[in-house]
Amino acid sequence: METNREQMKIVIVGHVDHGKSTVIGRLLADTDSLPKGKLQQVKQSCAANARPFEYAFLLDALKDEQSQGITIESARCFFKTKKRHYIVFDAPGHIEFLKNMVTGAAHAAAALLVIDAHEGIQENSKRHGYLLSFLGIKQVSIVVNKMDLVDYSEEVFNNIVKDYTSFLNSINVKPNSFIPISARDGEGVVHASEKMKWYKNKSVLEQLDGFKKEKSSQKKPFRFPLQDIYKFTEENDDRRVFAGTIESGNIKIGDDVVFYPSQKESTIKSIEEFNVAAKVEAVAGQAIGFTLNTQIYVKPGELMFKKDEHKPQISSRLRANIFWMSKAPFIKDKTYKLKISSTRISVKLVSIVNIIDASELGTIEGKDQIERHDVAEVILETSKPIAFDLIDEIEGTSRFVIVDNYEIAGGGIVLEKISDDQTLLKEHISRRESQWEKGAVTLEEKIAINKHKPKFIVFCGEDTVQKQQQAAKLLEKKLFQQGHQVYYLGFSNVLAGLDSDFSQAVDGREEHIRRLGELARIITDSGQIFITTLSSVDDYDIENLKLLTAPNDFLTVVIGQNIFTKFKPNLDFDEAAEIDYIVQEVYTLLINEEIITIEYNI
Ligand code: GTP
Ligand code: MG
Repeated sequence: METNREQMKIVIVGHVDHGKSTVIGRLLADTDSLPKGKLQQVKQSCAANARPFEYAFLLDALKDEQSQGITIESARCFFKTKKRHYIVFDAPGHIEFLKNMVTGAAHAAAALLVIDAHEGIQENSKRHGYLLSFLGIKQVSIVVNKMDLVDYSEEVFNNIVKDYTSFLNSINVKPNSFIPISARDGEGVVHASEKMKWYKNKSVLEQLDGFKKEKSSQKKPFRFPLQDIYKFTEENDDRRVFAGTIESGNIKIGDDVVFYPSQKESTIKSIEEFNVAAKVEAVAGQAIGFTLNTQIYVKPGELMFKKDEHKPQISSRLRANIFWMSKAPFIKDKTYKLKISSTRISVKLVSIVNIIDASELGTIEGKDQIERHDVAEVILETSKPIAFDLIDEIEGTSRFVIVDNYEIAGGGIVLEKISDDQTLLKEHISRRESQWEKGAVTLEEKIAINKHKPKFIVFCGEDTVQKQQQAAKLLEKKLFQQGHQVYYLGFSNVLAGLDSDFSQAVDGREEHIRRLGELARIITDSGQIFITTLSSVDDYDIENLKLLTAPNDFLTVVIGQNIFTKFKPNLDFDEAAEIDYIVQEVYTLLINEEIITIEYNI
């Protein structure tokens, strides 16, 4: 295929036997897009088998031919006009079609929906119309086929237009056009129909050329899902290269960039490509690495964008359309994994706005789980805020899949960001607190005996784990020697007992924070000073930890570079600070804040 001509993906849908394949066969034949001699060959083989020729056979003939080379996932055909190249997906069934569409395997810019003039509007005519709107396909043209069977009657056509328009109105879809054709006889497909002079508008082919190309992804705001960070440690080389593939937009050296959800900012210092000379700018589709002017701590899964462009969304709650494919239903109170751009995160189903049974297309009332092949509008919640776009803005960063047990269980698109003031975590905590059964010893009695108030002390920082552990244990020892009730918990202890599969999974970290927070709540309630270390925490981890530890509070000590954007730690130390000095400073703070009520010299 020539590359200089524009490309467009089209999907063709409609009730069984209404003529989808025939329309495509006609388009291929009448635009001279078939391999030389193909038409003749198929016609001859039909004659030899005493079988009437059908344009739809062309697709099967091509399929056989193509599948000898590369395998094709669904019926995919190519043809071209003067204006552009088309790739047409003939959806074999709506389940396969949905699967391909929802996972992004085949995102079409426009659709043709075929209705048989003689049979009229059928179940799937409506269902497919709905699914197109569900998938966010805005350009739709209704092809009223087999007009030969109704004597090319304008009245029959008008009635279908009237009825189907009122259906489309009810689901908020505005069709681009209705086109009367006879695919079998070639009326109205590529050229204007001789038999329907009453119809003055576009032929199918003219309509295809009339569909607007989606804004090129290079012209959209810049989006770079961060996949990996490579640290170079050779002599004179302390570069950190931020690697991934540019989803949309363009970028050049000197551009100011922001990472979401961490909200860290920097400036592009260089653009590097493997084994290629450094570049000044880069555009959508390129797999690339960046270095930045300042050293910032961000993690794979973050979304980088240009500071002066339209921003992505950040939230842990989102409203989405999903299509469920797994045999096991999508249920509440279970943790799944969400993959969106380069983000992998735990997700839960919060609520179901509505469910449409994809085989019946009726709204299902009162169901509290989503079953296989259901199409649903849902509210989802991730364990931490994530960055994403809305389907109307940037498609690639709005499309997601839900993974259950290492398999893609469902897919969907984000419709809207929902405020995450109320989260499942907050609901859990308020339930926990209202059910908390207090012991017989009051907090005041504990403080009087212990000579300290309960406190949770967290040492954190990037790449300074050893130092954090040494400082934490030294502090534990000193406080203990003075008769305080103190307990140190190591990182691995919290995850002990989890199967190794789980602790290595991306959500092992979130589970760690959750367990730690619950433990902190209990241990501080017992009156103790609870000390731990945490590397690679961000603002959102701290936020969750704070919620979980409440009503008690914690104190944070950062060793090394500050890794937070908004959160202010109580103390922070240079990476080179002496352990004794750090511990002395923490102790002083405990005295000043009156956590320790009797002063000793340490
Ligand atoms: P499925 O893939 O099975 O859903 O069917 P389809 O929508 O692809 O329909 P297909 O193109 O296979 O056509 C179904 C039947 O309708 C075939 O026998 C065609 O010959 C016939 N047909 C298609 N277009 C026309 C038409 O314009 N006029 C008449 N009379 N028959 C047509
Ligand atoms: Mg077909």
